[in-house]
Amino acid sequence: MRDHDAQPVGGLARRLASILAARGQDPTAEPTYEPEPLPALQMGEARIPARYQGAVADHPAVAAWVREVAEAGRPGPQGAPGLAEGRSLLIVGTTGTGKTHQAYGAIRSLLIAGVRLRWKAITAADLYAELRPRPGHDGERELMDLARCPLLIIDDLGAAKNSEWTEEITMRLINRRYNAMLPTLITTNLGMADLRTHIGDRVASRLTEMTDRVILDGPDRRRALAAERFRASVAN
Ligand SMILES: Nc1ncnc2c1ncn2[C@@H]1O[C@H](COP(=O)(O)OP(=O)(O)OP(=O)(O)O)[C@@H](O)[C@H]1O
Ligand SMILES: [Mg+2]
Repeated sequence: MRDHDAQPVGGLARRLASILAARGQDPTAEPTYEPEPLPALQMGEARIPARYQGAVADHPAVAAWVREVAEAGRPGPQGAPGLAEGRSLLIVGTTGTGKTHQAYGAIRSLLIAGVRLRWKAITAADLYAELRPRPGHDGERELMDLARCPLLIIDDLGAAKNSEWTEEITMRLINRRYNAMLPTLITTNLGMADLRTHIGDRVASRLTEMTDRVILDGPDRRRALAAERFRASVAN
């Protein structure tokens, strides 16, 4: 540095302060340290509810669906496969048999396989509550976001109180995903006959074509776990 470039520290500090001020930054503010961006797998897993963060899709039919979806993925800009059109899954079983566990386990398996994944999950009851018309809320846009999302979990279909309006919302959502052949993971406590009564014949017909059915017929795992804990506490 030549002599005439030399500036007193105060001058430099003033220049720096004016540059920061022009950028809307406060030079006296404490520095903030942005957390390192999480890798895709951790970011994806962070959105899974705590109870299902370790879920493994250990049902053979769910594992087979994961493989099929992962293999069908189109390579994206960074080489990682993205989701393509594909079949959907209808996971059927009574309370506590592990339907939601299998659905989130499938999402985890796809993330672990390195599939670029944009996914959303919603229970049917929350779907209707979210979309219920109210001032200042664009339910239509939310419905379209869910309809276009590359992978969607609809948990507990048929568990919410039904009406003509819920039937219409379900039909519009399923019909769009059916037309676009977007993979959807649907869980339900109802058999097909009851489901048809609950969500309407036209939705049931589409589900019959677009989904592979997985039946979980084990015990209620929550009660089984509680009984196991009780036995362990008595034995100790
Ligand atoms: N394959 C599994 N291995 C270990 N734990 C499991 C498995 N499947 C389910 N569980 C556990 O059993 C409990 C019940 O599972 P889950 O919530 O998936 O049931 P569900 O069928 O969705 O019930 P519901 O019909 O009430 O929604 C949860 O604590 C879950 O973590
Ligand atoms: Mg569930």
